[in-house]
Amino acid sequence: MAGRVKDKVVIVTGGASNPGLGYTSAQMLAREGAKVVVTDIDKAGAEACADSIRNAGGEAIAVQQDVVDERDWLTLVDATIETYGQLDVLVNNAGIAILKPFMELDIDDFNRQISVSLTSVFLGCQAAVRQMRQQGGGGSIVNVSSVAALVGMSRCGAYAAAKGGVRAMSRSVAMDGAPDNIRCNTIFPGVIWTNMQASAVGNDGIESRIPASRVPLARAGQPEDIGATVVFLASDEANYVTGAEFTIDAGMTAH
Ligand SMILES: NC(=O)c1ccc[n+]([C@@H]2O[C@H](COP(=O)([O-])OP(=O)(O)OC[C@H]3O[C@@H](n4cnc5c(N)ncnc54)[C@H](O)[C@@H]3O)[C@@H](O)[C@H]2O)c1
Repeated sequence: MAGRVKDKVVIVTGGASNPGLGYTSAQMLAREGAKVVVTDIDKAGAEACADSIRNAGGEAIAVQQDVVDERDWLTLVDATIETYGQLDVLVNNAGIAILKPFMELDIDDFNRQISVSLTSVFLGCQAAVRQMRQQGGGGSIVNVSSVAALVGMSRCGAYAAAKGGVRAMSRSVAMDGAPDNIRCNTIFPGVIWTNMQASAVGNDGIESRIPASRVPLARAGQPEDIGATVVFLASDEANYVTGAEFTIDAGMTAH
């Protein structure tokens, strides 16, 4: 067990899906010594993630949580403090992708997308900052946005609105958190092979998403490609990093 985030207490939301960014980030954080609170609306999946961490010799608990429910956030922070005594890092990763041509999105689609992928991050940042301020010593918040926040993408009208909101809000959280040494940074994944991506590509297959004309490295990323930056931002190696944006997309948005 290496120690880049040794003894840091980390909440990772949306940790049930395997392959998924939350699942793998949770495993990588635990391998680097973190105590991980894995949450998801899928209780069995969150427990499977925490089990896998414990089976590998790490420390983790699972908590069922609907990220749009403010009370669930309060319960989650309470459970974290009760078990591990502090909260050092929050990874706001849970999300959904309602992908439809713009004119086929209805208001329920839009509201649901904003709620699960943006309001959740608002609630999470508030819950984390409140706890981190109370305990003192600072903390780190990592918000997972998307390249859809950076460039125009078809069928992403609602999804991009939510992820663009995450981008803008994160910088503001970074400003308001700075006096308490609470850092907040954003990750923008490109095409990463997860259950969400598998349902997004459907029968077209992943090759349809990664031609070199669109993704210069011409391959899908693996969840570890995102987890590596999550670990960095959670660690003290990123002590001087806040309000920053990490595009991890094989060059997709560079051209
Ligand atoms: N995979 C990609 O290519 C990609 C690209 C850009 C951004 N992202 C973002 O990365 C994050 C993780 O994506 P992923 O690909 O691992 O997705 P995924 O669908 O594989 O996993 C998402 C997890 O979030 C959970 N979740 C959904 N709604 C929830 C709710 N209301 N409360 C609690 N948990 C909930 C799901 O149960 C699931 O376990 C998402 O925010 C996604 O938008 C992914």
